[in-house]
Amino acid sequence: MYKFPKDSKLNKPEFLFGVATASYQIEGATRVDERCPSIWDTFCAKPGAVYKQHNGDVACNHYNLYQQDVDLISSLGVDAYRLSIAWPRIIKTDGSVNQKGLDFYDRLISALEEKNITIMATLYHWDLPQYLEDKGGWLNRETSVKFAEYTDVVSSYFGDRISFYVTLNEPWCSAYHGYRYGIHAPGIADEKSGFLACHNLLLAHGMAMPILRKNASNSKHGIVLNFTPNYPVDDSSIEAAQFADDEHSHWFLKPLIDGKYPESVYNHFLDVMPVIESTDMQIISEKIDFLGVNFYSRSMVSNGRQGKVSDTILQKLDRAEIRMQESNDVLDDDTKAEKLQKLMNQKSIHYKSVDLEEVERTHIGWEVHPEALLKLLTDLNQTYHLPPIYITENGAAVDDHLVDGKIDDEQRYRYYQNHLSMVDQAIKLGVDIRGYFAWSLMDNFEWAEGYKMRFGIVYVDYETQVRTLKRSAIKFQEFLNARKQGLL
Ligand code: FCB
Repeated sequence: MYKFPKDSKLNKPEFLFGVATASYQIEGATRVDERCPSIWDTFCAKPGAVYKQHNGDVACNHYNLYQQDVDLISSLGVDAYRLSIAWPRIIKTDGSVNQKGLDFYDRLISALEEKNITIMATLYHWDLPQYLEDKGGWLNRETSVKFAEYTDVVSSYFGDRISFYVTLNEPWCSAYHGYRYGIHAPGIADEKSGFLACHNLLLAHGMAMPILRKNASNSKHGIVLNFTPNYPVDDSSIEAAQFADDEHSHWFLKPLIDGKYPESVYNHFLDVMPVIESTDMQIISEKIDFLGVNFYSRSMVSNGRQGKVSDTILQKLDRAEIRMQESNDVLDDDTKAEKLQKLMNQKSIHYKSVDLEEVERTHIGWEVHPEALLKLLTDLNQTYHLPPIYITENGAAVDDHLVDGKIDDEQRYRYYQNHLSMVDQAIKLGVDIRGYFAWSLMDNFEWAEGYKMRFGIVYVDYETQVRTLKRSAIKFQEFLNARKQGLL
């Protein structure tokens, strides 16, 4: 089982342990009960957008198997479950409320309540209704207003039955991957659009906060951001790494906490900055009760005058590039590198993401570097006046195989042990971390990577929909049971 020092907060029942998923990645049943299409349904149908043109039509069929999945969650012994609610199930194209969508989440929430599982629900985990994208999506300020209305519907219906409301999951991904680099839905690759989407997403979050407070006054309300800290490859790249952190982390956190965008990035990208209305920053910086931190890996950065563009980035943007060119021309790696680097950072002399050789990586290519989680948490704690933190996602993609009915995911087990130990150390260094959610409960639709990447602690056989606990899950079970019995 996972082991921590005797005095660790992680051994205490007050520290919340949970598993996480998201609607489009697990639910399936995309065409039932009057669910409207989402931008991911549309994106998946575009040739070249998603690995082998996989989609979320069936996924883990959780929409139908939710009771079994709740039993599974409960059998792990976790305290909490982080799920997301699908906007396209709740608000119909004409703006009216879809009772059938609310009923589904009512059934799910009731099943979780019966097992005494604390609920954290994300209102937006990337599945924007397509009818809103048709009016500009996150490039249209009106979408933020629509998000606030949708928030009102959900939170007035479920109120305090949901203990933690998360407005947005990783606005970085929605804005940058979706509208700036074009590798996620809706697939727009445009610098100006990326920053505009970002601002409207943050506004949506800010507009939703007072509504959540009013409708669920005993619940906690916050947002989930993703952090991939940037490390300089050498001394000449320190400034470049700082800039990359400003662009990818502080660009989201600073407005939320301090009500300001980082000046370095604002000035650098001045010609593509969105119009900021006079009360916007005040709306965005509405006080949050907690910050959700998603962490997977770190990124290496060079000063832009040296180094080869990261292979991980090349692979990731490969499909976007193919789609944008609308041709099957195969580009040589250097041309591709140059084009993609431009795409990722138009003023390319600034910095480059580079790959280190001979470091441990997971199946998706991300470097394993647990110390970066500790450094991130202590750095953020020093830089900002933060509310309590929950690690809302952390986990590893492993090329899992079922052998004799078992999955020995040694790398994932080690990944969890080492990252959880960093959480323990961060707490000891004074960071107020209250909980940890493993990503993910089970293998699921990994966005542009389709079903190729398995992040679950539970294995899903997509043919039969049979779920099997991997070794990493059994270790959680053992640890949580021992904790419950007061044996730690
Ligand atoms: C995060 C997403 C989550 C999952 C993991 C691997 O960026 O929030 O849905 O795909 O990455």
